[in-house]
Amino acid sequence: MAKRRKIYEGKAKILYEGPEPGTLIQYFKDDATAFNNEKRAVLDGKGVLNNRISEFVMTQLNGIGLPTHFLKRLNMREQLIREVEIIPLEVICRNIAAGSLSKKLGIEEGTVLPRSIIEFCYKKDELGDPMVTEEHITAFNWATHQEIDDIIAMTLRINDFLTGLFAGARIKLVDFKVEYGRLYEGEMVRTVLADEISPDSCRLWDMDTGEKMDKDRFRRDMGGVTEAYAEVARRLGIIKEAGGAEILSFNGK
Ligand code: TMP
Ligand code: ASP
Repeated sequence: MAKRRKIYEGKAKILYEGPEPGTLIQYFKDDATAFNNEKRAVLDGKGVLNNRISEFVMTQLNGIGLPTHFLKRLNMREQLIREVEIIPLEVICRNIAAGSLSKKLGIEEGTVLPRSIIEFCYKKDELGDPMVTEEHITAFNWATHQEIDDIIAMTLRINDFLTGLFAGARIKLVDFKVEYGRLYEGEMVRTVLADEISPDSCRLWDMDTGEKMDKDRFRRDMGGVTEAYAEVARRLGIIKEAGGAEILSFNGK
């Protein structure tokens, strides 16, 4: 493989210089981390599955006119994306109580929320991505009021669309985390969906059995992590076999 310049390495992905200016290559690793890197593992085939699932979801979102950084998948682990300036926020959208919301507010996991709730966290590993409000975001210039409005509108649209998409696969979209970037086009700046959407960044529950099909299986030592991700991919029609054998057996680059 030709040597290429690494731009950034995160916990689950690496960004390389792209083939043309304004593009990057996003590489999906098998590494899994939780609780801000306290818990770590390598899960064979996770990167391959997340690359495929994120490709599928981003393509669907592009198809409804929701702008994303995604251009095309290149191979088993890599996709070509537009280079954007990441807005330093983790945007969480919740439909059903789980995880940190349940813990913080004492609401039983599985309680349907009265309406979808959006939360913002400041992207800063050293601080453990603390939750912040719009006041902090605008006061510290992490994003403008206009960008926050765009982010909220886009996140609710993603939520509605993905809730339906997953429901068609008999999966409940409990919550998810997304990130946005600024896409510079001449004089114009556009807010676009960036990063990834995969079982690493969503809570997905089987609609019939309630079984967890997402990264909580890793966070909570439940086992069967990549098997669950493969089942999500199978139900979405991305791969054919239940175990995802045809893509997991080739642990490609
Ligand atoms: P939480 O309940 O732990 O706050 O997580 C809410 C959602 O955000 C859940 O779908 C998992 C996702 N998430 C990430 O993608 N990255 C993170 O660092 C955290 C804390 C959560
Ligand atoms: N992604 C975060 C970490 O690696 C936390 C999580 O997803 O639970 O620590």
